[in-house]
Amino acid sequence: MNSNVSILGISIICPLCKGDLTRVQNYLMCHNCSHEYIQSSDEYLNLMPDIENVDKDHKWKERQEEMEQWYKDLIPDIDSTVSILKHDYLPLGQYFSKLIGHILDIGGGVGLVRQYLLNDSKLIVVDPSLDWLGSDWSQLSKTFPCLEKRPDFVLGLGEYLMFKNQSFDTVLSLWSMNHVSNPSRVFQEVQRVLKTGGKFFVVFEDMEPSWADILSRSRHRKIGCPTWLEILKMKLQVTFSKKFWPLQSDHLLITESDINIWIGSHFRINERKWYGNYLSFEFIKM
Ligand SMILES: C[S@@+](CC[C@H](N)C(=O)[O-])C[C@H]1O[C@@H](n2cnc3c(N)ncnc32)[C@H](O)[C@@H]1O
Ligand SMILES: [Zn+2]
Repeated sequence: MNSNVSILGISIICPLCKGDLTRVQNYLMCHNCSHEYIQSSDEYLNLMPDIENVDKDHKWKERQEEMEQWYKDLIPDIDSTVSILKHDYLPLGQYFSKLIGHILDIGGGVGLVRQYLLNDSKLIVVDPSLDWLGSDWSQLSKTFPCLEKRPDFVLGLGEYLMFKNQSFDTVLSLWSMNHVSNPSRVFQEVQRVLKTGGKFFVVFEDMEPSWADILSRSRHRKIGCPTWLEILKMKLQVTFSKKFWPLQSDHLLITESDINIWIGSHFRINERKWYGNYLSFEFIKM
């Protein structure tokens, strides 16, 4: 039986067993595993799997609460919020403006990337936090007009995507991969939902620069980021004390060798680029 539930023309399936869904009154029911997803609002689709399925080893819930609190404390100060978001998004604007077709933003929050996308691109946000649908964010719409409207939002997890195979032209993960509980599973799911030749663009946080990065000074200097000399000192300390690169408490540690394992033979790296403190990759699905 075909799924009769869709968003922006993309079919929605059960995030747990990938079976087809049917709408029954105020819930979506899976034909295969009989799981029910209650729909209590028409502002978003709820495809959140049971929380027991979330990997507790990585303290996901605690890290998530810390991240939500950070935004709650930030948003009353509109000027600082605007300045932080501009600082992060502006350097990537040109990249976003070239994306076409169906785009999935994993951990896409308020859907700020819409500000930089072409008008006819179709963006879907998957995120486990409903805080993003609060009215506070529309206060920023003077600077970011896209925030006048909420994005096409699916409540759910990157580890349990609710789309059929080969649905998207591009998948984004912008400052969200260090927040998930199981990045390896997210990579597997992205591999499944991307079209062959599709792009997976990830901005990672707290990544250790290689010696080649440091020697070539390939990190772009940005306001608020450590200087080249500070980075060199940190690299020397980390190398000689055999410690890990400093990590924000709500982040999961990710290394480039982890990334190479996760991409396996399913993706190739098309671009690796620093934006200030952030290391980005464009992977292409093979
Ligand atoms: C630092 S915020 C970044 C939000 C947004 N990408 C931006 O650029 O403003 C990290 C996001 O990752 C989301 N997130 C956490 N765990 C996730 C998971 N397992 N799957 C998808 N998103 C997740 C959080 O809810 C949050 O929206
Ligand atoms: Zn199911």
